[in-house]
Amino acid sequence: MQGIKDKQLLKNFSYINGSWHKNETNFDVTNPATGELVVSVSNAGVAETELAVKAARSALKMWSEKSSNERASLLRHWFNLMMENQDDLGRILTLEQGKPLAEAKGEIGYGASFIEWFAEEGKRVYGDVIPAPSNDKNIIVIKQPVGVVASITPWNFPNAMIARKAAAALAAGCTFIVRPSEYTPLSALAMAELAERAGIPAGVFNVVVGTDAKGMGKILTQHPDIAKFTFTGSTAVGKTLIQQCATTVKKVSMELGGNAPFIVFNDADIDAAVKGGIASKYRNAGQTCVCTNRVFVQQGVLKEFTEKFALAVNALTVGNGLTEGIDIGPIISEKAVNDVEKLVSDSIAAGATVHIGGAKHSAGINYYQPTILTNVTNDMPIAANEIFGPVSPIIAFDTEEDVIEMANDTEYGLAAYFYTRDIGTIWRVAEGLEFGMVGINEGIISNAAAPFGGVKQSGNGREGSKYGLDDYLEIKYLCMGGLNK
Ligand code: SIN
Repeated sequence: MQGIKDKQLLKNFSYINGSWHKNETNFDVTNPATGELVVSVSNAGVAETELAVKAARSALKMWSEKSSNERASLLRHWFNLMMENQDDLGRILTLEQGKPLAEAKGEIGYGASFIEWFAEEGKRVYGDVIPAPSNDKNIIVIKQPVGVVASITPWNFPNAMIARKAAAALAAGCTFIVRPSEYTPLSALAMAELAERAGIPAGVFNVVVGTDAKGMGKILTQHPDIAKFTFTGSTAVGKTLIQQCATTVKKVSMELGGNAPFIVFNDADIDAAVKGGIASKYRNAGQTCVCTNRVFVQQGVLKEFTEKFALAVNALTVGNGLTEGIDIGPIISEKAVNDVEKLVSDSIAAGATVHIGGAKHSAGINYYQPTILTNVTNDMPIAANEIFGPVSPIIAFDTEEDVIEMANDTEYGLAAYFYTRDIGTIWRVAEGLEFGMVGINEGIISNAAAPFGGVKQSGNGREGSKYGLDDYLEIKYLCMGGLNK
């Protein structure tokens, strides 16, 4: 199948309790670059999701009682297998998601880095001893795994968004169930194949793939045997899932939508800002939650930045991600392309100007031209909504105060970026921006060692980093009395 060396990585059944589950019906996974069938996948639903919960619940005691070193060595093995199979995993990812092959392989390395990171970090789940108010007691704090963790993950990072959650959960001693997007189940199933080869015991990592998003989602958010639910996706869906989790008071963590400002001040290194803007905006065809969504440029460098940025955007190549040298692949679906098209046309109607692009791309129905809009204001649809496409709206600004106010004028608070060489500006702006992550003279900020997450309606909890384990651990207070010290 299209250059994949290890055919066993291409699975089409759900992976529950260490076995592959066949269902009566199938659904098709198609390549967004061509519309062609990649593979037909067995369509799991509510019954299989319940089976996965049962399996994860049964495996919990065994897994949580393993030493942190035992869990670390299994996770390390999983990491090694992902890296050894990076080419095949990247190719599977491009086939189902569309991003260019080099970027897909990069995602495999990125996803694997979370497994490596948490394999180590799981050894450092420290407790505490707190001075007690009287001498007959000791106060001791221990940390324990929360229990069974359920997750729903998106199509834009079919590997890394699973790895970032599963690695932390497994390292903490939790068992895990994921329902990946039905657009991109193959990367998740390939991860399950490698987890099995790595020796991760049955029931610890389960993948249920199916089209009944509502039914499966209800089980994963409401089943009493699930202790924690974690989601990456849109704010609208996240709100519904949080409500569903409330029925059993689950611990929740949410990585939701963004509307990232990218601010270029008059004193910025313009070439560096152009490079950072291209990386931040056009990565994954603009389909990331941390993507630049609004480009604010101070009046003094508006002309220079726009010209240089336009040259760089013009140089981006668009096409099938499997073709060598492609920078931008397709958007995930025709509907998603139409959504981008509507945001652009509504903004043009409101006064925006097309500087470059501004239309569907001739490469096929799922492609959109890398686009720059100028004369944009912060209230236009292209600035007020998450674009999820390769479009940069440029908004001019005068002062630092104005731009901070405009940047914060959104319900979202995931990532923000700004470019300046002034140390005072750096601190004032970094502190003034109401976002969970801020790139300062840097357009790519995600890595396993850093806490990924948002404020406001962009979600709660942090993934990656030493903080990423906290969401999978409970704090237990032990009061040891009768001590006659
Ligand atoms: C996302 O778009 O949700 C994830 C992006 C990243 O991890 O950098």
